[in-house]
Amino acid sequence: MTKILMVCLGNICRSPLAEGILRSKLPDDKYIVDSAGTGNYHIGTTPDKRSIAVAKKYGIDISNLKGRQFSVKDFDDFDVIYVMDESNYNNVLSLARNEHDSSKVKLILNDVYPNKNFDVPDPYYGGEQGFENVYNMLNEACTRIADRLV
Ligand code: 4NP
Repeated sequence: MTKILMVCLGNICRSPLAEGILRSKLPDDKYIVDSAGTGNYHIGTTPDKRSIAVAKKYGIDISNLKGRQFSVKDFDDFDVIYVMDESNYNNVLSLARNEHDSSKVKLILNDVYPNKNFDVPDPYYGGEQGFENVYNMLNEACTRIADRLV
């Protein structure tokens, strides 16, 4: 099993979408995809209704996911940790215990734009177009990731 974790701040907008999109592109007998937030605001809650809606529009159901907070144990449980933006990157890296932990953390858009360090923007305070934009960015990144893995 290869285990991949998607991380954002709240675990209700970007990372649940990334989880649903990547899971839809990988065989579930070989890959585990999960998501978490660096913050603790939304533990146990379902994704933002705008993320649920844009996923549904593209045939992906994320309505049953539940928010959880990233923890140090995730470095042991996952092979790769994709973060959405630089702030997530710094927050996750600050918890790394060693170089092995740090080496697992990657900005997800660097799979599409190598070394550019582009952020997936936080759509929480914006409108629905922001969620469509985030979906398209994540779909491109997840297509790239899945093509490389499978
Ligand atoms: P996410 O978006 O990190 O993509 O899940 C956010 C959702 C909620 C909050 C921040 C970001 N919040 O502060 O409640």
